[in-house]
Parts: sequence; C-alpha cells; structure tokens
Amino acid sequence: MKRFENYTAMVTGGGRNIGEGISLAFANAGANVIVCDLDGNNAKATVEKIEAMGGQAMAAVFDVRDREAAFKAVADGIERFGKIDCLVNNAGGSAWLLRKLSDFVDADPDVLDFVLDINIKGTMNCTQAVLPSMIENKCGKIISMSSIAGIVGLPGRTDYSAAKAAIIGFTKALAMEVGQYNICVNCIAPGAIERDGNPFEHMTHLGENGHGGKPSDIADTVLFLAENNYITGENIVVDGGRTLGVSHR
Ligand SMILES: NC(=O)c1ccc[n+]([C@@H]2O[C@H](COP(=O)([O-])OP(=O)(O)OC[C@H]3O[C@@H](n4cnc5c(N)ncnc54)[C@H](O)[C@@H]3O)[C@@H](O)[C@H]2O)c1
Repeated sequence: MKRFENYTAMVTGGGRNIGEGISLAFANAGANVIVCDLDGNNAKATVEKIEAMGGQAMAAVFDVRDREAAFKAVADGIERFGKIDCLVNNAGGSAWLLRKLSDFVDADPDVLDFVLDINIKGTMNCTQAVLPSMIENKCGKIISMSSIAGIVGLPGRTDYSAAKAAIIGFTKALAMEVGQYNICVNCIAPGAIERDGNPFEHMTHLGENGHGGKPSDIADTVLFLAENNYITGENIVVDGGRTLGVSHR
C-alpha cells in the first residue's frame, strides 16, 4: 500500500518548479493529483508525467484570482476523484513575474494589486472553494506557500513580503476556526529554491558554499504536513538556515 493511496491532492501552480515537484511527489506516493495552473501547457505536461508514472491526475486550467473558476475546479476535481483531501496553495510570485520590481515609494498600484491578488486573494479563493467539502468530510489539510520574505524584509518586494506575511496570519486564524472539523492548516516559508533547474547561489548556513534548495525540499515538507494530524497553524521555514541570523565568524 502506498503512502497516499485513496487520497486526492489539489496543487495550484502545479505546472512548474515547486508546484510540479509537489504534484509529482504526491503522485509518486500514490495520490490522485488535480494539477491547477494558469498555464495550460505546463499543467498538461505535469499531468502527462504523472500518467507516464502510472498515476492518476487531471489538469485544471484557471487563474487563482478568479474565485468562480476556483469553485469550478474544486467541483470538477470532486466529480472525478470523489473528494479532495489536501489543497496546496502554491501559485504565487512577486512583481518580478511582470519584470516590475520597484521600491515601494515608486510602486505602481496595479502591480501592488497583482502581487496581493495572486498570493493572498488566490490562496483565499481556493481555500474557500475547498473548505465546505472538507468540513462535510470532517477531514482535510490546507498547506499554503508563504516565503522567508513574509518573516524578514525583502527590499524591492514590499508587496510580496506583505502578501506572504498575510498568508501566515491567514493560516493561524483559519487553523483556529476549522480545527473543530479535524482540518489542519499550515504554511511553508521557502528560502531560495531553484527555478527551471537554475540553482540559486544565495547565502545559507549550510557550509562554506551555502546552496539553494530544490523543489523536492519543499515537496518533502508538504507531504510530511499532509500526513500529520497534530500540527496546525504553523509556518515551517525551509531555507537552509538563511534567516537564522548574521554570522560574525
Ligand atoms: N522559488 C523560490 O525561491 C521561492 C521562495 C519562496 C517562496 N516561493 C513561493 O513558492 C511558490 C512557487 O514558486 P516557484 O518558484 O515554483 O514559482 P514559478 O513562477 O516557477 O511557478 C509558479 C507556477 O504558478 C503558476 N501561476 C502563477 N500565477 C498563477 C495564477 N494567478 N493562477 C494560477 N497559477 C498561477 C505559473 O503558471 C507557474 O506554473 C510561489 O508562491 C512562490 O512565491 C518560491
């Protein structure tokens, strides 16, 4: 029996990098996966990889900022797989996606809306879509992607820092509301994780040549939380020690 048999995970931003890593890890452990992404080609590519492994997956192509689309994706997922056990709110990003990073004093209000919407509103939309069925089942896991930018400052990304800090607050308050239904709500704060196979060379406290993390480092943490029934309202930092403090050695 596999670790996540008879289990369905819904992963937003599941078509690339961290989200793809989470989707593949769930499938590898026996879960059905609803691979959600704005980019249909990426979502379908992840689904094809899962099917090639002998797993079960479906693509849900929608923008997490679109509340109605999030509800439809949840309904479609439940129709196909019967239930959703775990929602991973992974879709998100900074103004870098628009190549419009800037200091706050110069920030374009439309860019501020974009960053807040994809990260915190998208997380809220998908969570609200999936919660009624989890409450009915008296079982569920909500795991959202924060960032170390939500716990320490990141100049040029005030909007992203604010949105990722909001995910931590949202996680704690929601965990208190839905604990009575046996639903655990947690978030993860990654440090620098490689994207499109390009390793980051950021400072960590892992040896002289501190290295960045891989999507599998985050996927391992997601699967750990997906299996645990007693951790809730937590933010787990996965950053190789980067935010531990300043070293004077
Ligand atoms: N990579 C890092 O170093 C790092 C560090 C800390 C936090 N994070 C967070 O982890 C998550 C994943 O990061 P990544 O580096 O893999 O991102 P990425 O940009 O490589 O991939 C994100 C995926 O989400 C999809 N997506 C983007 N906006 C969407 C939307 N509005 N609706 C639906 N899908 C959407 C994209 O199409 C893409 O497939 C993000 O929330 C990011 O903020 C990443």
